[in-house]
Amino acid sequence: MAILVTGGAGYIGSHTVVELQNAGYDVVVMDNLSNANEKVIGRVEAITGKKVPFYKADIRDREALNKIFEAEKIESVIHFAGLKAVGESVQKPWEYYDNNITGTLTLVDVMRQHGVKNIIFSSSATVYGNPAFVPITEECPKGQCTNPYGWTKSMLEQILTDIQKADNEWNVVLLRYFNPIGAHKSGTIGENPNGIPNNLMPYITQVAVGKLPELNVFGDDYDTPDGTGVRDYIHVVDLAVGHVKALKKLAPGSGLSIYNLGTGVGYSVLDIVKNFEEANGVKIPYVIRGRRPGDIATCYSSADKAEKELGWKAVNGIKEMCADSWNWQKNNPNGYED
Ligand code: NAD
Ligand code: WQD
Repeated sequence: MAILVTGGAGYIGSHTVVELQNAGYDVVVMDNLSNANEKVIGRVEAITGKKVPFYKADIRDREALNKIFEAEKIESVIHFAGLKAVGESVQKPWEYYDNNITGTLTLVDVMRQHGVKNIIFSSSATVYGNPAFVPITEECPKGQCTNPYGWTKSMLEQILTDIQKADNEWNVVLLRYFNPIGAHKSGTIGENPNGIPNNLMPYITQVAVGKLPELNVFGDDYDTPDGTGVRDYIHVVDLAVGHVKALKKLAPGSGLSIYNLGTGVGYSVLDIVKNFEEANGVKIPYVIRGRRPGDIATCYSSADKAEKELGWKAVNGIKEMCADSWNWQKNNPNGYED
């Protein structure tokens, strides 16, 4: 029996495939390559020394999904496939709702038709909106999202919750990721954004490699220790291991489970710049700019529930996250294009 990983050629998906194979699971990957390069599959195989069965297919394509479920013995699905660019989602809301929501509805329908009712879903801390309190526990009420991307996560959580409630053969795990950064220690797989990065760490690594002149720090007048935004950055390999641990929550009768995957520690933008410089001996020039619309001051998790119930805890600190992000970028200045 195998785990189907949708979006498994992407950033978090590829790291999770490595950890699943390392833990002895059989894995099948599907991805439409809308935000990934097929080369990642060969690189994952080189890391694990195992073959990765790969299907280039779209989660909205019912026929293609049926073929995968007929050809492979799938027991559970880890569902990463989705569009994730916050700004783009404001410009293209229909495309985001169609891809993420229609796609997930189609996937889940095909799953149940094949009697597969175990799913781990990639949710996000974005569902907390401007959080009612920090550290954010899973009991923190969901909030107002500021963009269609965030709403797709919030709505899909509700959809999967309702499906599980109506049919208790379903086992559903909603994982709310905080801010994933870093890369596999080999430096052969990592985050590969299209165009100018929106997220902080890939922007910093592109400044470090000389592709961008300086970092724009979005606001230094927040109510935080140094005025810049505070986030809970988590190493992508720790995040990947969290999925392996979450698989045990897909046992019969588990029902619905929700976990934050973060470190429980918040760092400001300037903390990240300083740690990156210290870890890597590279200077990151920066300029303070105005606030970015939709940003919040502070967001960090309580990661206690995942530790207690899954036996999972992030082990990589901020220096390792910075070093591994840089190792990936400097070895692959053009991502998978080289
Ligand atoms: P990513 O873009 O690298 O990976 C997503 C993968 O899904 C890509 O390989 C893409 O080609 C594929 N995909 C997209 N639409 C598809 C479709 N219709 N059919 C098949 N494949 C499709 O992004 P990531 O950072 O690895 O994120 C993985 C998941 O985690 C996403 O659902 C994302 O929303 C969620 N998430 C990411 C973050 C983050 O900061 N990276 C934070 C919270 C949640
Ligand atoms: C982090 C901090 C910025 C870029 C986003 C999504 C969220 C989730 C993770 C998927 C903030 C500051 C950033 C830059 C900067 N994704 N910053 N200059 O906004 O916390 O979360 O990614 O679910 O939904 O919203 O991450 O990396 O964009 O920003 O100063 O060039 O860095 O203002 O304080 P964010 P980020």
